[in-house]
Amino acid sequence: MEKTFYIRHLDETNQFAFHIATHAFPGMVIGLHGDLGSGKTTFAQFLAAHLHVTGIVNSPTFTILKIYQGDFAFYHMDVYRLEDSGYDFELDDYIYGSGVSVIEWYPIISAYLPTSILEITITRVDDSTREVVIKGSGEYEIIVQTLDS
Ligand SMILES: Nc1ncnc2c1ncn2[C@@H]1O[C@H](COP(=O)(O)OP(=O)(O)OP(=O)(O)O)[C@@H](O)[C@H]1O
Ligand SMILES: [Mg+2]
Repeated sequence: MEKTFYIRHLDETNQFAFHIATHAFPGMVIGLHGDLGSGKTTFAQFLAAHLHVTGIVNSPTFTILKIYQGDFAFYHMDVYRLEDSGYDFELDDYIYGSGVSVIEWYPIISAYLPTSILEITITRVDDSTREVVIKGSGEYEIIVQTLDS
């Protein structure tokens, strides 16, 4: 199932992240796609806060993976740099683990991801407006279904 909707303010990005957080489960994988500055890290930060992650969640671009602890283990990845170096199989321990994984630029490693993940594509419309396309099947379908758009 897929839905497209518009977010007009950071507050709505926060509400959207809250909806996802209420449906979080061990082993959840969320793929984020969208241009530089579209709001992938911003979404991840709001999600982390709703999952009671403590500490500052900042962009993992240079480290690829950052590990946090909240209601679940929280794995924040930015796989942009793997475009050149190829997949790092150590990431399997996390992606196929029992935490919540959030993967910025996930299409770069899509061949290595579980067949069912929650896919979120963000497109900048103007300074504060974003178009969001959310897609999920299997255990993720309910998340898309119950989203007000
Ligand atoms: N509705 C919105 N949702 C998300 N971000 C927004 C929104 N409105 C404005 N912004 C701003 O857009 C910027 C998004 O930057 P962010 O680092 O989250 O992008 P990114 O997609 O992670 O980029 P990168 O590809 O470089 O990692 C932030 O400065 C954020 O405050
Ligand atoms: Mg980012």
